[in-house]
Amino acid sequence: MTMLQMNHSQTSPALLNVDNLRVCYGKVEAISNISIQVAPGSIVSVIGPNGAGKSTLLNAIIGMLPSRGEIHYDGLTINDLEVEERVQAGIALVPETRELFADMSVQDNLLLGSFRRYRARDKQYLDQLDWVYQLFPRLKERHLQAAGTMSGGERQMLAIGRALMGKPRLLMLDEPSLGLAPLIVKEIFQIISGLRETGVATLLIEQNARAALQVSDYGYVIETGSLVLEGQAGALACDPKVIETYLGIGKSRKADVVVPLPVA
Ligand SMILES: Nc1ncnc2c1ncn2[C@@H]1O[C@H](COP(=O)(O)OP(=O)(O)OP(=O)(O)O)[C@@H](O)[C@H]1O
Ligand SMILES: [Mg+2]
Repeated sequence: MTMLQMNHSQTSPALLNVDNLRVCYGKVEAISNISIQVAPGSIVSVIGPNGAGKSTLLNAIIGMLPSRGEIHYDGLTINDLEVEERVQAGIALVPETRELFADMSVQDNLLLGSFRRYRARDKQYLDQLDWVYQLFPRLKERHLQAAGTMSGGERQMLAIGRALMGKPRLLMLDEPSLGLAPLIVKEIFQIISGLRETGVATLLIEQNARAALQVSDYGYVIETGSLVLEGQAGALACDPKVIETYLGIGKSRKADVVVPLPVA
């Protein structure tokens, strides 16, 4: 494995520390000894081609798939926790499929994201709803609209908003730009970038490497279940292999097309 730069999160203890993760589907190994870290409040991207194991990685971290190796979150080893307990600890996953309730309103979909608080009569869910509406004014405008009639970009905002209703400290997004028009992709990435200021850390899975690296602090490249490259996002974006394979431009072109945003 080529390491462009290591120790990215050793200055502050990692919020998420995945150590030598292995995931198998039957006898087939989908993830082989992957180690990744996410520092508190940072944005970390995992990029890689179809079938590389990106969704498998997120599903194992949230506990939907059995795995070997160690997953540490906020100083705790969470390997033996159920999905619900990991969510309660502050990890949220927006899956590739979004999983919204099409017939329910935008607001009801959001409220489902804080169902535990709602059930416990903890009025904090109302503050959380206000916060999500501040982040996504369009969801507020359309709070009575059925989720299934929202546009693709709005549905993605709703899926992210619902995940944020649970007050996570680690938000995991599986291909948020999938199937969206470029202008909406830009808007979604601006929102993701803005989340950094709220203290939420984001682990971002993307095939849109250019947009992902632009908003990220750090990045990992995985291919066929293994880490092949990692580094500061700006350095990764200038790596010839990344440029050729993931940024879709020839080696002869200058690498400075990707300008990382300043870290807050
Ligand atoms: N339930 C499953 N049973 C068996 N194999 C699976 C299962 N889910 C995924 N796989 C296989 O594991 C590998 C990794 O799949 P995964 O969905 O994690 O890839 P990905 O990087 O998310 O791809 P994409 O970019 O297409 O979403 C693939 O070879 C896939 O066929
Ligand atoms: Mg996937």
